[in-house]
Amino acid sequence: MPSPAASATRKLFVTTALPYANGPFHIGHIMEYIQADIWVRFQRMQGHQVHFVCADDTHGAPIMLKAEDLGLTPEQLIAQVGASHIDDWRRYLISFDTTHTTHSPENVELAQSIYCALRDHSPSLIDSRTIEQFYDPVKGMFLPDRYIKGACPKCGARDQYGDACDACGSTYAPTDLLEPYSTLTGARPELKPSEHLFFRLSDPRVVGFLERWTRETPLQPEVFNKIQEWVGGSAAAGGTKLNDWDISRDAPYFGIPIPDAPGKFFYVWLDAPIGYLAALKKHFDSGAARRTYASETRSFEAFLADPAVEQYHFIGKDIVYFHTLFWPAMLHFSGRKTPTNVFVHGFLVMASGEKMSKSRGTGISPQRYTELGMNPEWLRYYLAAKLNDRVEDLDFNPDDFVARVNSDLVGKYVNIASRAAPFIQKHFGGALSAALVEPDPASATGIARGARDAIAAAYNGREYGRAVREVMRIADRINERFDQAKPWELAKDPARRIELHEVCSDTLNAFLALTYYLAPILPATAERVARLFGRAWPLAWRDVDTPATRITPYEHLLSRIDPKLIDTLLMPENPAPQLSPAKAEEDAESRADAKNPTISIDDFTKIDLRIARIVNAERVDGADKLLQLTLDVGEGRLRTVFAGIKSVYDPAQLIGRLTPMVANLAPRKMKFGVSEGMVLAASGDGPGIYLLAPDDGAQPGMRVK
Ligand code: 2FM
Ligand code: ZN
Repeated sequence: MPSPAASATRKLFVTTALPYANGPFHIGHIMEYIQADIWVRFQRMQGHQVHFVCADDTHGAPIMLKAEDLGLTPEQLIAQVGASHIDDWRRYLISFDTTHTTHSPENVELAQSIYCALRDHSPSLIDSRTIEQFYDPVKGMFLPDRYIKGACPKCGARDQYGDACDACGSTYAPTDLLEPYSTLTGARPELKPSEHLFFRLSDPRVVGFLERWTRETPLQPEVFNKIQEWVGGSAAAGGTKLNDWDISRDAPYFGIPIPDAPGKFFYVWLDAPIGYLAALKKHFDSGAARRTYASETRSFEAFLADPAVEQYHFIGKDIVYFHTLFWPAMLHFSGRKTPTNVFVHGFLVMASGEKMSKSRGTGISPQRYTELGMNPEWLRYYLAAKLNDRVEDLDFNPDDFVARVNSDLVGKYVNIASRAAPFIQKHFGGALSAALVEPDPASATGIARGARDAIAAAYNGREYGRAVREVMRIADRINERFDQAKPWELAKDPARRIELHEVCSDTLNAFLALTYYLAPILPATAERVARLFGRAWPLAWRDVDTPATRITPYEHLLSRIDPKLIDTLLMPENPAPQLSPAKAEEDAESRADAKNPTISIDDFTKIDLRIARIVNAERVDGADKLLQLTLDVGEGRLRTVFAGIKSVYDPAQLIGRLTPMVANLAPRKMKFGVSEGMVLAASGDGPGIYLLAPDDGAQPGMRVK
């Protein structure tokens, strides 16, 4: 990879993995966006031209079936989820230049043309074969493996998925299951033949190319080794372990139609990475690329064909196969440039070892985090402090999170400015000493500036933890020197005024240098610091050495985390009642005595409590507390209910959930519309409102009694 010291302007095309448009982000997604965003912001500070794009990954059977379940069209579902993704990117300060969707004309055009290019090789790289697959005769569709269950062929355990048994650990094919059934309808699936299209990954041309690409790309060692295992025997030796890749799916399927193959669609994993190009195409076609860099007047095609353009994909370790085999091969054999590198990260796990990846939404909800008013820069800093260039899992330790933010970030870094700035304001009207134009390498400023290249190299190599450690080591030294100089004593002695001026100016110049170093991680704080020093935003790395001449009055930069917030953050979203039975009885009695007279069972049965499915949830213009819910109560029509839960729930999180409601409450006309019932939620004296949820198996319309 070119070194950061190289002065030529690099042209970078950077992506993160495209998130599925089937639900709100989990914390694992946010970690990846933060990792990529820090790198991109660093490269922009170097003066390099970066085109940082993303898109929602919208196709495939799960999204189609989920939309159907919710009574929505797939287009409605992906639009709703897409809006929540955009909100979260903004909240976490993720600076994509353009975001798009794989359900777009650009993606259709690119996917079809890449496919045709593969097909038109001679001999063709696309093969057609008839295969037998499970088909749900009730649903009228071929079943992806995850929708088939049955009894384990080895141990007989029931309700096992089609690939492995949870009970005995054995692995097998879905067709090996005993008494298989479709999880969609319960029907017994039938084996049915269908013609499928395959990308001939096992072709010696493809294997040879992958061997070359793998050798020539500076992959992380873990990734390199994994690919060796997959590719197996060399093309020259005529052997490989690679299987051809099934890229077609039969209707009904929410996806991109395959040209000249009626009723067939591209498998979602074919068009998903092509979405990277679709987003870049939109970025160029919309004029956004040129607006950002006036010199970039080329078309999307010309930009992408430029061998000097570097192309990087940030991804998680679960999708390496797609990105290091299929994707480079698709690009290469359709005549395109291949990725310069693929940067792979591990998963975020709770300190207890529980996985917090995008596939399991356990742990910290990023929506709840911001709804609690927690600062996204705290999380950015904490994750940066733990990130490196390896494919390692990262543990999220709540105590460590609080300690690092409060003691290091605020206690060491912010502390420098909050201690030194008031002296400069009070005694020198904000003017800094000019004596530091060429600072002594042993001064605070000299020490801070001296770390510039090492920190740049750490960022460029995605060793953010190393960059943060270096910044904190220097912050310690700056604080120590400030303590030794005792400016509070100097300020009392008019004869030592120059000394006071120099000490505080040196400290603040050093602080400014550290701010440049932290700017990729803390863009909002760095922007406030830039204002304090009268610097133009965004900051440019080459200005680290430019002496500061003045400061404006010190404004608050960053607060500490209140550890109580962490408890609220980590509380389960639907906490089970925490009372012991005896205590619960006692509480119920005392409440009944105090203000709630007892009622008869007849009174209770007057309330028609029903299970409702939330098919849509959205904010209401002009309402501070309300969300507008659209509920399916199994009565063949949908109801609108306004609920005062906006402060605690992100609408996107609610869609699809079941909750009990009072179905026979008289309709109530409100300022924003008519509310046709009431959903049930628990709350206590403290903050927090908790929507109730029935156990698995409940269906909309069921009576609660
Ligand atoms: O694993 C996932 O979440 C996929 N949606 C990632 C797609 S990345 C790219 F290929 F689009
Ligand atoms: Zn078994």
